Amino acid sequence: MAMIAHKCKDHTVTVVDINQERIDAWNSDTLPVYEPGLDAIVRAARGHNLFFSTDVDTAIREAEMIFISVNTPTKTYGVGAGRAADLRYIEKCARKIAEVSEGDKIVVEKSTLPVRTAESVKRILESNAKGRKFQILSNPEFLAEGTAVQDLEAPDRVLIGGSQTADGLAAIQKLVDVYAAWVPQEQIITTNLWSSELSKLTANAFLAQRISSINAISALCEATGANVDEVAHAIGTDSRIGPKFLKASVGFGGSCFQKDILNLVYLCEHFGLPDVAAYWNSVIEMNDYQKHRFGRRIISTMFNTVSDKKIAVLGFAFKKDTNDTRESAAIYVCGDLIEEQAILSVYDPKVSEAQMRRDLNLAADDPRLTVCTDAYAATKDAHAVLILTEWDEFKALDFEKIYDGMHLPAFLFDGRNLLDLDALRAIGFEASGIGRG
Ligand code: UDX
Repeated sequence: MAMIAHKCKDHTVTVVDINQERIDAWNSDTLPVYEPGLDAIVRAARGHNLFFSTDVDTAIREAEMIFISVNTPTKTYGVGAGRAADLRYIEKCARKIAEVSEGDKIVVEKSTLPVRTAESVKRILESNAKGRKFQILSNPEFLAEGTAVQDLEAPDRVLIGGSQTADGLAAIQKLVDVYAAWVPQEQIITTNLWSSELSKLTANAFLAQRISSINAISALCEATGANVDEVAHAIGTDSRIGPKFLKASVGFGGSCFQKDILNLVYLCEHFGLPDVAAYWNSVIEMNDYQKHRFGRRIISTMFNTVSDKKIAVLGFAFKKDTNDTRESAAIYVCGDLIEEQAILSVYDPKVSEAQMRRDLNLAADDPRLTVCTDAYAATKDAHAVLILTEWDEFKALDFEKIYDGMHLPAFLFDGRNLLDLDALRAIGFEASGIGRG
């Protein structure tokens, strides 16, 4: 929404939430989300044509177009628990819009949703229409965290789905006009509602599948002495495969991939396609395998025990340039090591101690975790160093100094293939990466 306000100065954008604390944060000097470049855009537009408020009703009444951007977490209860998307927040929004609106509205689904959710939103709105007209559009977001501003400035494409009726097409055109302020027309794709909803789930499933595929090969590389980065480069030069999203890692995380694939799996089962469901589910199974395989490898390399050993963890976010830890591989690796009675000291440039303790289910005074403010303090007196997030600053660390402060043999496990293992071995580290024999 900040980008729309930034690019379309003649439109007024009001972001509303029932959470006062969050709205206060958006109105303050410290935004609640760390995202490179976002501060500048918000600061420039805030108070001019970008507003943050808790007055939901007024914002609905005054808006011509309403974007629903609420959470759609995986359901934790009842039918479809652990797989289906929890749509209660979407439904509450639809009911609120129906209750408060005085005139016609275009309602845009921005949240990632199961296919045919628009149908439910439409039914709720239409059965309460009382003469007003509602058009539902699907406009999934493809930005990635850490590069959000860049991705929004120059998206590969913008996708807009809507009903193929005269009113539907007119609503689609209104949203096309918003994006056309900065996105070339040929990159704005319009489809029917269901294609748009399904494309978002499919895009994330394909991206995650590439990572699981290269991670599967990384296990074979370790067994055979091949180097997964060399394999990725060799296959990535085939223009049909392409070089992106082939970086072997300790496993993918983030708020989208797992949730969206689980959702896709659930949909396939619901529509009577168990083989298709099993196919996509294996992408998640491979990711789980990769996360736990990393922990098992650490333990077996360190003489089959990490009990009472200090393990330094560099990086806790699910990727670099974000403070987001949702589904981060670090949570699983740290959890496995704590289970084996290791003592962890963690450094991440952006993740707070409170967040790490929440993620690992550890009380504030639990001595199994120490959170440090720099990598040297975290690695002092450690038996092993793990790289779990690919922060650029880790490449510039003085590893001779780190080595000098560690117990010997000094183990280093690079879960991101970020570092030069040969240079580390020359210092004296027993260093290993992912998929490098
Ligand atoms: C993803 C999609 O990229 C984006 O289009 C969608 O809108 C939301 O979900 P995001 O989760 O923010 O974005 O980050 P992404 O860059 O896709 O990375 C996801 C995870 O995959 C991270 O944990 C990352 O480290 C991992 N990853 C990514 C790899 O392990 N290897 C790769 O080659 C790429």
